[in-house]
Amino acid sequence: MTLESTESVTELAGRMPPSFTLGVAAAAFQIEGALGEGGRGPSGWDAFAEKPGAIMDGHSPAVACDHYNRLPEDVALLQELGVDSYRFSLSWPRIQPDGRGSFNPEGLDFYDRLIDQLLEAGVSPMATLYHWDTPLPLEHRGGWLNRETAERFGEYAAAAAARYGDRVAQWVTLNEPLSVTLNGYALGVHAPGHALMFDALPSIHHQLLAHGLGVQALRAAGVTGSVGVTNLHAPVRPGSRSIGDRMVARMYDLLMNRIYADPVLLGRYPTLPVYARPWLRSIGRISDADLRTIHQPLDFYGLNYYFPVKVAVGRGVTPIPANTHKAVARLPFHEVGYPELSSTGFGWPVAPEHLAILLKELQDRYGDALPPVYITEGGASFPEPDKVEGTLQDEERVQYLATHLRAALDATSPGGMAAGVDLRGYYVWTLMDNFEWAAGYSQRFGLVHVDFETQARTPKQSFYWYRALSRARKNRA
Ligand code: NOJ
Repeated sequence: MTLESTESVTELAGRMPPSFTLGVAAAAFQIEGALGEGGRGPSGWDAFAEKPGAIMDGHSPAVACDHYNRLPEDVALLQELGVDSYRFSLSWPRIQPDGRGSFNPEGLDFYDRLIDQLLEAGVSPMATLYHWDTPLPLEHRGGWLNRETAERFGEYAAAAAARYGDRVAQWVTLNEPLSVTLNGYALGVHAPGHALMFDALPSIHHQLLAHGLGVQALRAAGVTGSVGVTNLHAPVRPGSRSIGDRMVARMYDLLMNRIYADPVLLGRYPTLPVYARPWLRSIGRISDADLRTIHQPLDFYGLNYYFPVKVAVGRGVTPIPANTHKAVARLPFHEVGYPELSSTGFGWPVAPEHLAILLKELQDRYGDALPPVYITEGGASFPEPDKVEGTLQDEERVQYLATHLRAALDATSPGGMAAGVDLRGYYVWTLMDNFEWAAGYSQRFGLVHVDFETQARTPKQSFYWYRALSRARKNRA
């Protein structure tokens, strides 16, 4: 099957409901650069990236894609791509350098320009309020271990809502609180670099509280757009049928998926197995008032899916899901992975059928409590050269995207295994190669190749494929 052929693009577009959204996603810290420009304050990630050994090969986020200074060029790329929507993040430290108190007019202006240019280009803005760049002064006060951070986030959300609430079509409060807690506070491989293991759990509760306060602030400001949150989900399977493996799979699912989704969608934390309860004590008593704050009515649920996990009992090397080159071998369970499947540049298994399984799991678990779903991220990195001449033939990425989109559309269409899920759209991670956190520039996920020496942007084959898909969908609608 040649997926870039007109037939398959038309066929895939034909499976999409008429109003299905095709988008691309990105995040401020990964593309903007200009860390010290325009009145931006430092974030926890600025400080973390300076620690020797924190980022692969000592790569620096200082310039990244220099998007801050190349806004019109990048919006032109989005327009050429022809996507319906662009998911970007507002940088909290660019808008409010201290994370409290006064706001930075230049930072606020930057996102005004971005939103206005997107609208002029016919691309609908989806704004994520928090994609991991906590203002450093808040990190110094404990970051997400401190309940105050949630309150400060509510104030920041209110300011963003007042400023952009008339033009942003969709709001995402938080991006992947799991990654922040797991990588940043439990394992220490992302900012702020705390390796607290299970003592990191309070950072979950405070992020979820921030989500709830953020939704309240957006609603109170009367934003015209819809409001949701983005969680990373991975379907979890036991490595074998043994009781031990099944127990760890259940616990893994609770700690990776349900602990983030249940409070938001159901208003309660999942019941942990008896042996895991001591870990939860570090959260302290959780009041009903907090749960009510977290459990806000949402207009949509954002789902990030990259790969499934298979876990087994016992210590082992767990290189995923941390976006890191470091192996993590301290947990009482480990991922055995899917060696029979092909894998991406990060070593992540390519498993589109598990996206269908995941959608069904969400339907079974949350039923009517699940609002319409957008897959707010999906994509893959593959080894690609730093320099290109002509169009990079990234056939593997085209295959990845086509098979995942197809799996999601099939599962949620009438008669499909997750037909009860109201799937509204898919966002490719990501528009252009960028700063992939602890992996630096070593993992290229973009539809557009970036030469980080010259900042030249060169669309890859996948860009032209996605453009053809967007056009086919529009012709159909
Ligand atoms: C999810 C994160 O939201 C994004 O920042 C990251 O680049 C991708 N995963 C790929 O690892």
